[in-house]
Amino acid sequence: MTDVIKTISEVKSRLDDYRRQAGKKVALVPTMGFFHVGHLSLMRTARQDCGLVVVSIFVNPAQFAPTEDLEAYPRDLARDLELAGRENIDLVFSPDPAEMYPEGFDTYIDPSHINDTLCGQGRPGHFRGVATIVAKLFNIISPDRAYFGQKDAQQAAVIRRMVKDLDYDIDIRVCPIVREFDGLAMSSRNAYLTADERAQAPVLHQALLAAREAVAHGERDASKIRRLMRRTIGQNYLVEFEYARIVDPETMESVAVLDREALAAVAATVGKARLIDNLMIAP
Ligand code: PAF
Repeated sequence: MTDVIKTISEVKSRLDDYRRQAGKKVALVPTMGFFHVGHLSLMRTARQDCGLVVVSIFVNPAQFAPTEDLEAYPRDLARDLELAGRENIDLVFSPDPAEMYPEGFDTYIDPSHINDTLCGQGRPGHFRGVATIVAKLFNIISPDRAYFGQKDAQQAAVIRRMVKDLDYDIDIRVCPIVREFDGLAMSSRNAYLTADERAQAPVLHQALLAAREAVAHGERDASKIRRLMRRTIGQNYLVEFEYARIVDPETMESVAVLDREALAAVAATVGKARLIDNLMIAP
């Protein structure tokens, strides 16, 4: 089983020792735990790239609105440590909320324009919480590289922007979405789905494939493609549509005409699970 460290001072001193001894490249894989194959694939990529791999497990209260699923969010630290051990992860950093947000904590990182669309609209304050915790993890671990999943494409864009804007010397790697056999993007929140909901959830991916197909057949009008994705998702009575957009993959701004590669992104609520998915589509 991988070592688990709970305090900032201990993880910093352990990493200082490692760096002094070995001069290895340090990778950080930030997670909220309850690992699935998507997390493991980030760990495997990090393991191949870097001499020392740190995985953080922290269900970050600052990125959940009071109405969201912070309490219910699935957790299983013992299983996560077992899986991290099998992936040869060197250190797991799993602090308590009071370690990361001690009394009096009052400083946040607030992404601006990139926050105005997609999940930023539906989840106000979410990316402020994400950027703040990721910045704290970057400051604590000082990784050379950090690994994120493409499923959270807007999160990856927020972090890339933050790294540029705040001059972090960290290489951000975004790894491909890992899917179930029927196309459903892997997510810890899939654990909330009942059997009926699980059967309908792949419709998000089907909507994205329909968008790609329409573009392959010559459609360039983003509003038509958006409507197609919306119609596809709306065919399922257990799936509550939230958005379907075509955006620039860096700025997340809407694209009107598909004259270059763009990101098709969708979100919907299925039972208790809010699900997101995306696909790059090129004319
Ligand atoms: O993608 C996640 O699991 C979280 O948003 C992250 C990056 C670990 C920050 O809490």
